[in-house]
Amino acid sequence: MLEELYQLEAKAKNELEAITDVEGLEAWRLAYFGKKGALTMLLRGIGKLPAEERPQAGNIANQVKSALEAAFEQRQEAVRRAALAEELAQGAMDVRLPGRPPSLGYLHISTQTLREIYDIFARLGFHVFRSREVEDDVTNFQMLNLPPDHPARDMWSTFYTTEPGVLLRTHTSPGQIHAMRKYHPEPFRVILPGKCYRYEQVSTRHEHMFFQVEGLAIGKHITMADLKGVLESFARQMFGANRRLRFRPSYFPFTEPSAEADMDCILCGGEGCQICKQTGWLEILGCGMVHPQVLRNGGYDPDEYSGFAFGMGPERIAMLKHGITDIRYFFANDLRFLQQFP
Ligand code: DAH
Repeated sequence: MLEELYQLEAKAKNELEAITDVEGLEAWRLAYFGKKGALTMLLRGIGKLPAEERPQAGNIANQVKSALEAAFEQRQEAVRRAALAEELAQGAMDVRLPGRPPSLGYLHISTQTLREIYDIFARLGFHVFRSREVEDDVTNFQMLNLPPDHPARDMWSTFYTTEPGVLLRTHTSPGQIHAMRKYHPEPFRVILPGKCYRYEQVSTRHEHMFFQVEGLAIGKHITMADLKGVLESFARQMFGANRRLRFRPSYFPFTEPSAEADMDCILCGGEGCQICKQTGWLEILGCGMVHPQVLRNGGYDPDEYSGFAFGMGPERIAMLKHGITDIRYFFANDLRFLQQFP
C-alpha cells in the first residue's frame, strides 16, 4: 500500500510537470482527485486494510494528498502566468514604429485678419461691440434711413425668416443703433465685427455670408478730419507705413456726407496694374459722417453731437494683403487654401 502511494505520488508529479494548459490541468485533476481518480480509489482502499496498518497508511496517504494538492496549485499558477505572458507578448505595441505627429490647428484666415483689425483699432481707442446677426427690418434698414420702398435696399437684399420683419442682417451698420442706445449720452468709440448675409449671386468677389467690421465714433466736435486720420492710421498699420488714402464722394443713406476710401495700390504703388485695374487705387471701405437722423434714432442730439462711421470687409482686406483672388476660398473649407495661412 505504502509503495503504491509513493509510486502514485511520483507519477502524478511527473505528469503535472508536463502540463502547459488549463485543459491538461483539469484532466489531471480528474485522473487523481475525481470520483474514480487514482488517489481517491487508493484512499478508499485504506479502510479495508488490517487495523494495525491503517494509521500509518492513513498518515502517508494524507501527506501524499497534500503534496499533490500543493503541486497542482503551483502548476496552475505557472500555467496562468505563462498564458498571461503570452497574451501580453502578442498584444504588445511595437514602440519602434514612428508615431503619427498630431497636426496643430490654427486660426482661420478671416479670424486672423479680424484680430489684426481689433489690435489696430484698440490702439486707437476703439473697443469691440458685439451686435446680433438676426435683426429686424426696423434696425437693419429703417433706423438707417432706408424706409421700406427705398431704392438703395436693392443693394442689401437678404434672407428673411418666416417671422415677419425678422431677417439676417445685411451689414453691421444696425449695430450702430444698438451701440448708441446703449452708450448715450456718453461719447464712445467702437468697432462692430461680425457676419453679414446677402441674397446675392456668388462670384469671385461676392459671397452670401461674409464678415464686416463697422466702426463708430460719437462725441462732440468730431469732424471728417478725425475720420481721415483714423482710417489713414489703420491703413498704414495694416498695409505699410507709406500708404496713402483718398476719399471719393459716395452715397450711403446713413451717412452725410458719405465717402469711399481708396488706398494706393499695394502692388504697383499707384502706377496702374492689373489688380487696381490701371487706376492706381484700391477701394477698401465705405465711410462718412453719421447722418443727423441716425444720431437721433440712437438717442443723440445732432446739434450737440456728431460722429463718423465706416464699414469694411475683412475678407477683402485679407485678399488685398495676401493676394487672394477669390472670396469663395474663405468658406469653402479647402485645407489646401487654409493651410497657406498658418
Ligand atoms: N453698411 C455699408 C455696406 O454694407 C458699409 C458702410 C458704409 C458702413 C458707410 C458705414 C458707412 O458705417 O459709414 O455696404
